[in-house]
Amino acid sequence: MKNHVIINNKINSFNNKIYVSGDKSISIRCVLLASQGIGLSKIYNLLESEDVLNSLKSIKKLGIEYEKKSSHYLIKGFGLSGFKTNKKINLNAGNSGTFARLILGLLVDSKNEIKILGDKSLSIRDFSRVTEPLKQFGATINSNKNTLPVKIIGTDFLRPINYEEKLGSAQCKSAVILAAIKTPGTTKIKARKSRNHTELLLKNLGFPIKVMRKKNFDLIEVNGQNNFRGFEYTVPGDISSSAFFLVLTLLSKESKLKIMNVNVNKSRTGIIKILNMMNADIQLKKTKIYKGEAVSDIYVKSKNNLKSIKCPQELNSSAIDEFLLIFLVAAKSRGISSFKNLSELNKKESPRLDIAVNFLRKIGVKVIRNKDDIKIYGNTKLELKGKFIMNNFKKDHRVFMMSCVAALTLGGKWKIHDKDSINSSFPKFLKLIKKLGAKIN
Ligand code: S3P
Repeated sequence: MKNHVIINNKINSFNNKIYVSGDKSISIRCVLLASQGIGLSKIYNLLESEDVLNSLKSIKKLGIEYEKKSSHYLIKGFGLSGFKTNKKINLNAGNSGTFARLILGLLVDSKNEIKILGDKSLSIRDFSRVTEPLKQFGATINSNKNTLPVKIIGTDFLRPINYEEKLGSAQCKSAVILAAIKTPGTTKIKARKSRNHTELLLKNLGFPIKVMRKKNFDLIEVNGQNNFRGFEYTVPGDISSSAFFLVLTLLSKESKLKIMNVNVNKSRTGIIKILNMMNADIQLKKTKIYKGEAVSDIYVKSKNNLKSIKCPQELNSSAIDEFLLIFLVAAKSRGISSFKNLSELNKKESPRLDIAVNFLRKIGVKVIRNKDDIKIYGNTKLELKGKFIMNNFKKDHRVFMMSCVAALTLGGKWKIHDKDSINSSFPKFLKLIKKLGAKIN
């Protein structure tokens, strides 16, 4: 079967309402925390993508039972020491850095060697960022030059640590928090700001976790070895999946879209802040707080007078998965946009900063790069003619979806490879975009 799409036409104006799939970060965390609860957890609107399904299959290998019901997943945990790890087990994380890094945190007490494997893209990503702090808890960890496969053997003598998270990585922070929930005593973390779903979920379970929010970092204290019961949770829509539709609408002619029931946790809404600073008119309506998480309907409409931005660096972490899209908007805005300190962008499913620069130059946009900083020379009249072939060597889902948005809003004749990559985060993407009228073959 062919694994590419052809797009030869821009999308016509639309006025519609959509629901995107459940949030990936929260879905993976729900699976992991349900695996540590005592008894049944009931998770509604769990994202059914490969990253989450690999997480479910992996906890099953560790002795946790789960069942798919018509409206939800049931996951039966056996408490904080409930993983069956007395034989050697291989876990396949597929494309998911989040699952691979977070599960390591929960394996600091494993009785036997557990090996974490991943696909080609995940197998060249750095794991020392999580294995170094996890070793301090007492676990023995070996890896292939800090990449997968990573082998972990836990200890019965876990000791709490003091850890400073300096990258603004929620995966590092969360791996340490998950190790800390198994560890006696108080683990103390000073973490640069990043998404805080793990902390919010644990708080809601009544787990003794304290978070003191400072301007540029959080101080977190986790008192370990407190069991909690299974729980019920309804996963809100994913802002990172919504982002493709925000930019599609913004750059299309005379269109309007409502995206219903989306997680708008402040640690995730960098894209909305940045686009509104560029003159977009994106509004959050009917905001409610669900178990500590803000959830809204998002209203967006087309704009043809977008302006450049000098992007404040403190927004980098809250927009980290959306920069490919933000760059596209910058390319179709008036003036020169600048973005700084984006080294983390090159550490994702593919080197997204390198890819974005090549992509923009390929479509005729002037970009000046200085190490991890870039300047994009925008043009509100940017229109593409001619043929474009988008290879997606690392099969990065976000590169594929951003390319579709570019083709549907800027014009040109496109062949975009690696359609299947959407299965890791957003299998419904093509169906939803076609619902808005996109002609994609
Ligand atoms: C994630 C954190 C981010 C993000 C990733 C999901 C998470 O990664 O890019 O898509 O769920 O914790 P980093 O922690 O590496 O910044």
